[in-house]
Amino acid sequence: MAILEIIHVPDPRLSEKCRPMRPEEINDELRLFLRDMAETMYAAPGVGLAAPQVGDTRRFLVADPGSQDEGSSGRRGVDLITMINPEIVQASKDLYKAEEGCLSVPELWENFERPRWVEVRWLDEHGQPRQRRFEDFAGVVIMHEMDHLEGVTILDRVSRFKRSRYLRARKKARQRGG
Ligand code: NI
Repeated sequence: MAILEIIHVPDPRLSEKCRPMRPEEINDELRLFLRDMAETMYAAPGVGLAAPQVGDTRRFLVADPGSQDEGSSGRRGVDLITMINPEIVQASKDLYKAEEGCLSVPELWENFERPRWVEVRWLDEHGQPRQRRFEDFAGVVIMHEMDHLEGVTILDRVSRFKRSRYLRARKKARQRGG
């Protein structure tokens, strides 16, 4: 297993709409890569990681919304969800507000409203169809990761002013070697 490099904004790969996975691509090579992604996510630490964040612009992601809960250490990996070609089947009209951060947008935390729950259909790492409803924080995590597959990060969802201020600050930090 390996820890992968997580890319940051404004890397153009984070703005690309990812392409669907073909059935023949769901193989041992992909399963190993998904395991590396999960290891990378836990090490970060984070609760979700989408393929473009590690430079692969195809539609898959890993998530474990409960892994950062208090007292969850040791449960790591138990609730790992691996999604290939996820699609939202239904979303609630009721909204839920939560603070979101992103491993590809370091140091930005922002409140967003999203549907309180989403029903999602996807293929697991063996190509088997799955469907499940994700609510509240788990829903936020899954919708956030699915946004990445559309080339959308939380930086695209803040005001233009905040976005340019953020990118300027990051550029300065990089120039300082930070
Ligand atoms: Ni993210």
